[in-house]
Amino acid sequence: MAAGVALAVLVAGCAQESGEAEVEMATAEPTVMEISEASFGCIQDMTAVRGFFVSSLTGDLDATVAVANAEEGVYPVGSVVQLVPTEAMVKREAGFSDISHDWEFFELGVSPDGTTIDVRGTSEAVNRFGGNCLTCHLQAEPQYDLICEQTHGCDPIPVTPVMARAIQKTDPRCEPMELTEEETQALQALAAFAVGDSEEN
Ligand code: HEC
Repeated sequence: MAAGVALAVLVAGCAQESGEAEVEMATAEPTVMEISEASFGCIQDMTAVRGFFVSSLTGDLDATVAVANAEEGVYPVGSVVQLVPTEAMVKREAGFSDISHDWEFFELGVSPDGTTIDVRGTSEAVNRFGGNCLTCHLQAEPQYDLICEQTHGCDPIPVTPVMARAIQKTDPRCEPMELTEEETQALQALAAFAVGDSEEN
């Protein structure tokens, strides 16, 4: 009887210990970033740098903006970079992926209700023209940390700077913004391009 009690206490002790271990494991990895729908929002609320937008998921926006302004250098962990509302690059923690230089690529769904993450990963995401994000952005010369802009060595995309600005201004998560005549025409050209594209396939 005494032995039975001792065993029960021992088992209970073990269970408690393993419970504690689980909690410890969950909190012992603060370097793994939590990225969810809530990590993304109205593109106009981000910081504009030349033609694109940046923000920081780790609260160090200054460090992100500094690299963006310098045009060269390695973006700090937590940096979010976007050209259009439906595509994003996020700099993940060191060691996330050698091949992608720790960038994770996202295909996002956007509506007045908010954001959905449709596809995410290093090599899974493709843009609206069917091009693979990683493959194309890897073409950027090394000093640019996979940021393409128009002169860093990536294949071009059929989105002109005016189109990009128009798409940025019509993010359904943002307050409505006025478009210039040129931007309205750019959106129409893009819509026609998209229709022609899907009819071909
Ligand atoms: C065929 C090549 C190509 C593909 C595929 C592509 N991009 Fe880009 N991306 C570019 C180019 C070129 C620019 C610069 C456009 C400009 O500045 O006018 C750009 C711009 C960007 C920017 C702004 C920062 C920068 O690099 O200039 C982000 C963020 C971005 N793309 C993310 C993505 C994501 C996410 C995907 C996949 C869903 C993707 N791109 C697919 C070529 C590509």
